[in-house]
Amino acid sequence: MSEFMTLAALAGEEEICTRCPLYQNATQAVPGEGPRGARVMLVGEQPGDAEDLSGRPFVGPAGRVLDKALSKVGMPREECFVTNAVKHFKFEPRGKRRLHKKPDAGEIDACRWWLAQERAIVAPGLIVALGASAIRGVLARAEPVSRLRGRLIDLDREAKFLATIHPSFLLRLQEEEDKRREWALFLSDLAIAAEWAR
Ligand code: URA
Repeated sequence: MSEFMTLAALAGEEEICTRCPLYQNATQAVPGEGPRGARVMLVGEQPGDAEDLSGRPFVGPAGRVLDKALSKVGMPREECFVTNAVKHFKFEPRGKRRLHKKPDAGEIDACRWWLAQERAIVAPGLIVALGASAIRGVLARAEPVSRLRGRLIDLDREAKFLATIHPSFLLRLQEEEDKRREWALFLSDLAIAAEWAR
């Protein structure tokens, strides 16, 4: 059971979170988004620049990749609960730009409490971790994506777990051949989730 009755109440508490120092520089907390009762919860790493400014998860470049992949496998984003392992943007100022910095283990661990609250309210049957930070956020231990990706695992009595890459990995690839191969692998991982959700 969550301490909070609604996602809106939870988001209000996330906004005043001081569990780790990341709240000090971020514009706002970015709560998870999607229907209560969604069958699938998608967990990313942390908000990026666009998410920090808008207050919504996965609305920047990585979000566009994710949206395209979800619609390709027939699991529309609107039906999923989309959230992050860490709720505040961690960055390094570089001139006018803010460069993404990976959250460390302590920040991910401090934020797991919020993930657990979201999970308790939404009650998804499947949790999909996008990348290594999300895996740590959900499993509370470090595991490489390559060891877990693409297979349904029993998380506990309430939910299954599936790991795949973070969509921003695809944006960093340079070679066309690598992009095609990794995109196809990403889709095949997400297709497992879509199939489970049908
Ligand atoms: N990357 C993430 O992990 N989450 C977002 O919300 C945006 C980019």
